[in-house]
Amino acid sequence: MKAINLISAMAFFSAIGIFSSCYEQPETPVPKLETKGNATQLIVDGKPFLVLGGELHNSSSTSREYMKEFWPQLKASGMNTVLAAVEWSLIEPAEGKYNFTIVDELLEDARKNDLRLVLLWFGSWKNGQSHYAPEWVKADYKRFPRIMGENGKALEIMTPLVKENLDADAKAYAALMKHLWEVDQLQRTVIMMQVENEVGIIGSARDHGDAANVAFNSPVPTELMNYLTAYKESLLPETKDLWASSEFKTSGTWTEVFGEGDKCDEIFMAWHYATYINEVTKAGKAQYAIPMFVNAWLVQIQDKRPGDYPSGGPQAHMLDIWRAGAPDVDLYCPDIYRPVFSELCELYTRNKNVLFIPEARAGEQGAGQLFYAIGKHNSIGYSPFGFETRTEDVENDPMTRAYKVAGNMSDIILDAQQKGNITAFLSEGDMQTPEEVTLGGYKFLIEPGRSRRGPSSTPVQGYGIIINIAPDEFIIYGSSIQVSFAPATDGPAIAGIARVDEGKYVKGAWTERRRLNGDDIMLDYDLAKKALENKTGTGIRFGSDSEYLQRVKLYRYE
Ligand code: DGJ
Repeated sequence: MKAINLISAMAFFSAIGIFSSCYEQPETPVPKLETKGNATQLIVDGKPFLVLGGELHNSSSTSREYMKEFWPQLKASGMNTVLAAVEWSLIEPAEGKYNFTIVDELLEDARKNDLRLVLLWFGSWKNGQSHYAPEWVKADYKRFPRIMGENGKALEIMTPLVKENLDADAKAYAALMKHLWEVDQLQRTVIMMQVENEVGIIGSARDHGDAANVAFNSPVPTELMNYLTAYKESLLPETKDLWASSEFKTSGTWTEVFGEGDKCDEIFMAWHYATYINEVTKAGKAQYAIPMFVNAWLVQIQDKRPGDYPSGGPQAHMLDIWRAGAPDVDLYCPDIYRPVFSELCELYTRNKNVLFIPEARAGEQGAGQLFYAIGKHNSIGYSPFGFETRTEDVENDPMTRAYKVAGNMSDIILDAQQKGNITAFLSEGDMQTPEEVTLGGYKFLIEPGRSRRGPSSTPVQGYGIIINIAPDEFIIYGSSIQVSFAPATDGPAIAGIARVDEGKYVKGAWTERRRLNGDDIMLDYDLAKKALENKTGTGIRFGSDSEYLQRVKLYRYE
């Protein structure tokens, strides 16, 4: 009897709309990071998700009207996720008075276009500066103190050493996350958050304000000392070298433990930025726990000392300090504009860091970097900066081609990441020396693409991704390369092509275009010479703008 009453009460209330959120519309799973097999991946709607992203210019997401013309282009680009700023000053114009209209409009427009969002919290810091703090924070510099430079002058940067600053930021960020939890439980349009943006001090290696001076002359916090002691054997060489200067002292002031100078100042700032941002992150996750990351303005070639680049930010050489101080931050991400992409990916996958690149370049360079990051380093995604204005011709843009190829095969890529069945290759600058990668029992020799008449006279930048889909069988995609094959295991000495099909994935299903043979698999006509080297002279080629992949079955003989 009681059950019947409950059911009819539910029916009544849901008819008038009261139970609609809890009974009629089941919650979708919360986005999270999960390690499966060989890879840690972003899980969205309960499934692994590859972020094919694009970050908007800083001011675009402040106006729905301004964004109107860009949504169709974003949609047409094959991307699946927009990275967009949310400014503290706009959501909390007066202390404690929140206005989330701009966030709600962004969510609505992203949903209309079937796109996900990663929101960038421009709170206390953006590019190191505090330009995005609300006026009531900026103007009250006695309550919300600034960093003092070496010359004793105030910089327009809120200091991470004063709790009043942290409390104000954390409160606003928590309010934002609470709001997202309320409005985004069904769609999960927002899949990750970036907490602050490219933090660190430009103009000084450390803060010389009163609070900072007191902390700097006090003992290094035990939490940091305990972390360094516990992980001493696996610390990054940069941390170890610095600590070695004091013969691994386990207590003392900052200079006693890390030595005098800029490097010590930088560690001091990294600890304080990391612990501050960790508190902001925790306050946000207490409301709504989705993956949260920080991004780094990297050291540039001309930089000589911390302060030339943002001192205390999550640069590659500070990752130990950030892991110790900000364990609730899920990823430490590089914004890569420098032409040493592969080296930076390598640096940012140390220390068990999961790779995500929130800012980078688009174009043909971006296409190669995307495939390299996801194929070689299990990146959870890639996102060029200024995506909405990067091209006049979205349809024929290299990033569009790359996103369409990757998007149509994202399940295959994600599955291969888990199984460790994927690798990639990227040439930066002129590809002079052939490179070899090994996968699935074969060696793949990757060289600049050339016509059958000989090598191209123009320098080429090539890239390629290889997935081992079955024994002896590979999906290969690339640009400006040719690939030949050799066995990597014991057995018959020569690897030949059993068959090659050109085709593409359409929503995860392989669709064939044509069978390739003859001229299309002969890389070299000097077959006798090749035979003497245990080679076939066969292989595959990719031009610079192919939308087609090649599915290669190999076999061995001697
Ligand atoms: C890096 C910053 O994080 C972005 O917000 C933007 O300012 C770009 N630089 C501009 O290149």
